Amino acid sequence: MLDSRTRLDDATIEEYQRRGRQHLWIHTQQENELAKDDAYTVIEGGEGIYVHDTHGRQYIDAMSGLWVVAIGHGRRELAEVAKAQMEKMAFANPFAYATMPAVDLATKIAEVTPSNYTRSFFVNGGAEAVETALRMARQWQYNRGQTKRYKFISRIGSYHGMTLGALSVNNATMLNKTPFEPLLPGTLKAPAVACNGCGDTCLPGCETPTGIKYLEQLIAAERPDTIAAFITEPISTSNGSFMPSKQYWQAIRALCDQHGILLIADEVINGFGRTGTWFAQEHFGIQADMMTVAKQISSGYAPIAAVVATEKVAEGFRGTQQEAFIGGSTFGAHPVSCAVALANIEIIERERLVENAAKVGGYLTEQLREMQSRHRIISATRGIGLMQVIEMKRDPAAGVEFTPDDDLSHRVPRLLKENGILSRGGSSIQVAPPLVINREEIDELVDGLERTIGALEQELGL
Ligand SMILES: Cc1ncc(COP(=O)(O)O)c(C=O)c1O
Repeated sequence: MLDSRTRLDDATIEEYQRRGRQHLWIHTQQENELAKDDAYTVIEGGEGIYVHDTHGRQYIDAMSGLWVVAIGHGRRELAEVAKAQMEKMAFANPFAYATMPAVDLATKIAEVTPSNYTRSFFVNGGAEAVETALRMARQWQYNRGQTKRYKFISRIGSYHGMTLGALSVNNATMLNKTPFEPLLPGTLKAPAVACNGCGDTCLPGCETPTGIKYLEQLIAAERPDTIAAFITEPISTSNGSFMPSKQYWQAIRALCDQHGILLIADEVINGFGRTGTWFAQEHFGIQADMMTVAKQISSGYAPIAAVVATEKVAEGFRGTQQEAFIGGSTFGAHPVSCAVALANIEIIERERLVENAAKVGGYLTEQLREMQSRHRIISATRGIGLMQVIEMKRDPAAGVEFTPDDDLSHRVPRLLKENGILSRGGSSIQVAPPLVINREEIDELVDGLERTIGALEQELGL
């Protein structure tokens, strides 16, 4: 591990906060809120599952950055790989040439993905992967003469990124898309799934079969020959990490096959072991035609993402130059990012981190359930592998939610920090630590969460 901790004097710390507030635009944050004391955290470094800020305060990185850092912080091996690759060359034109790291990474992805995913198209981030997959779907349909298929179906609750195309299929419930409208025409909404413990087949009373019926009707009403693709996350964190049943996913796969609609699995969060399998589709015994991956592909040591396509999709672009996929970006397949991502995947394999996510994730599930029994404000704990969530209500038994006056969106992150944890918090808390976490560290994490929830109950007099 790298020792990244630097002793900074108070003047330097204050200077960073002052200049940060003045010049750095933090994503989606309200500047006025960040001006409040202690709201402005400058992260300086990290080791393993921990990060520390410029004050030297250590936190468990309970959301792996943003579901990103699978292999933990401070891996010298990746720094050395990046350095060696940079020393070889700066860059090569991805519109014309391959590089050795890009070939190696594409080969490794073909090895670790379910059979038949043969081709990777590299880009820089999750939203760009989603954009690329959507355009790939339209052109794939166009190439086979289906020139009217421009519509996309996506699922209510699912998150797919912030660029305008991705935003058009992004239905995360908290997201206000109104300022950006009109978005892409022909983006159709499928119902959210809220299977909870259904397993293979939906239990009586589950709303999912009704959702599938609605989807059948939607496809029929819109006419199948206008629909290019269905995109969704296999298991959606933004929709509460509900685990769909196998029946749900198999029905979606069958509907897409029946109507010539391409199925795109957005594995940007799920992929590379987060849910205890390499890719979340494996839980459901299905294979989408394309998947989008990002985040844990490089554990954040370098920015990179990909659309991974099956032979069925790749075949649709073979033929004349006119039929080749039109797309790309200068830094897609950047050699340093490819080399770093490859070394990261090799660590995931060598240290059996996918198995660890399943095993330690099972232990985390139990600990969170037990914690629920000790705190009346916890209404649910849910998730799979190392992708878990704690949900809270003022009075779960009576179904009473927290109100804006309870100010959970500020209170919970502050209390988490006071108890040594960094995560996203409000009426729910994301619990998704790096895949290297062990049982003792899970205990430490759960203790910190329990202290946070205890302090919240005390502050609100509950
Ligand atoms: C499922 C999913 N798809 C796409 C994206 C967009 O990725 P990015 O933020 O890298 O653009 C995200 C981001 O969190 C995501 O969770």
